[in-house]
Amino acid sequence: MTTSLDLSKRTLALVADGGPDAFISAEVARRLIRAGARVGVAVTATMERWLPSLTLATVSAAQVARTVAEGEALAGEADGVVLMASGTELVSGLVAGRMIDAAGAAYLCADAPRVICLGGEVKRAPWVDALLEVLSEDAVILPRGEAPEGVVEAVSRAVGDLDLEGRRVLVTAGPTREHIDPVRFISNPSTGRMGMALADAARRRGAEVTLLLGPTPLSPPAKVRTHRFETAEELWGLASAETAGVDVVLATAAVGDYAPVSPFKEKIKKREGGLELALRRTPDVLARLGARFAGDQRGPILVGFAAETEDVVENARRKLESKKLDLVVANDVSGTETGFASTMNEVVLVEKSDVVQPLSRARKDSVAHAVLDKVVALLAGRAHRGRGPSNAEIDVGPGEEAGEKADGA
Ligand code: CTP
Repeated sequence: MTTSLDLSKRTLALVADGGPDAFISAEVARRLIRAGARVGVAVTATMERWLPSLTLATVSAAQVARTVAEGEALAGEADGVVLMASGTELVSGLVAGRMIDAAGAAYLCADAPRVICLGGEVKRAPWVDALLEVLSEDAVILPRGEAPEGVVEAVSRAVGDLDLEGRRVLVTAGPTREHIDPVRFISNPSTGRMGMALADAARRRGAEVTLLLGPTPLSPPAKVRTHRFETAEELWGLASAETAGVDVVLATAAVGDYAPVSPFKEKIKKREGGLELALRRTPDVLARLGARFAGDQRGPILVGFAAETEDVVENARRKLESKKLDLVVANDVSGTETGFASTMNEVVLVEKSDVVQPLSRARKDSVAHAVLDKVVALLAGRAHRGRGPSNAEIDVGPGEEAGEKADGA
């Protein structure tokens, strides 16, 4: 991700504890504000003895959070958290999940990128390393005694640019369910995790995001408009309506290709012999959108996700062409380590220009940002195009079916 040191429109929670390096917190707050950020400070009870709240309040031009409730409120607004640890008490408290003061609450309750700055005096010992290793699971930890300008740089990198600001992004995610009878259905193991990671990452990068989410036990990300669907038909209805004015469509939904022709109204009772089910094709949502916007420079960037068990790049290319997409994110779902229901993913980006870029195995949120980096580049390539036309302006006739798979598979 490319980053600038512009932190305007960002709210940061600066979390600080007392110790010999406590005064550096004030300098870091000052520099973050100079980079444009709105900074709220949350402190531990010991901080007052090392650096009066008055100093931090004056520098940040805001009241310092000192209670759990105030820390929690700050966390709710934060786009990033900067932990200034002068000693080890706060660090060990965070590992234990102890929310006894504003600092603990602001750090633990925030759903935002975290950067941890260790004062030069923070103890060097194996048990401290072990605590930091736990925190490093969801935080960037800077080397001890990092200079304030280095901290600002790391924070800018962690919160990222608002490079999707003003853009509208539509994400489809999760499985479909096609009912056979009231208690049985055809579905797949998708959890929607990749789509949710993309929706969340796009929102953090400034986009206005709409998520169309299938049946999954996972909760959708915060601050994202979410509509639920169950069947492929329902997904098509929503996608068709929601693409008006959208700049990017990220289609991660694992849409079932077949549905029972006539679902049973009552629960099927078992009888002697087998049971034959007649299936029909479901709408290919993405192919329909591809056909709708084909050749339209003002239409959205269409990104497909191809789950493959063999010939990954070849199949991705085929889908890119037949569905008239700009980019296909392909992954191999033959293993259990990545793909469906996993928190990790290993994908290959296949572009219309035939550029093929493999990304190394990473958590789905990192993969999401890498995919969005590519989307931002594609949007820049269409810099002068306007918004996509509204559905009302487009005739959704039978011609749209032309984009669907010709092989009928
Ligand atoms: N897709 C869709 N509607 C469908 C099937 C797929 O919108 N009925 C979208 C998926 O969300 C994904 C892309 O098309 O972005 C590719 O999906 P995938 O299941 O890999 O491919 P299929 O087109 O179903 O082809 P096949 O099952 O033959 O591999």
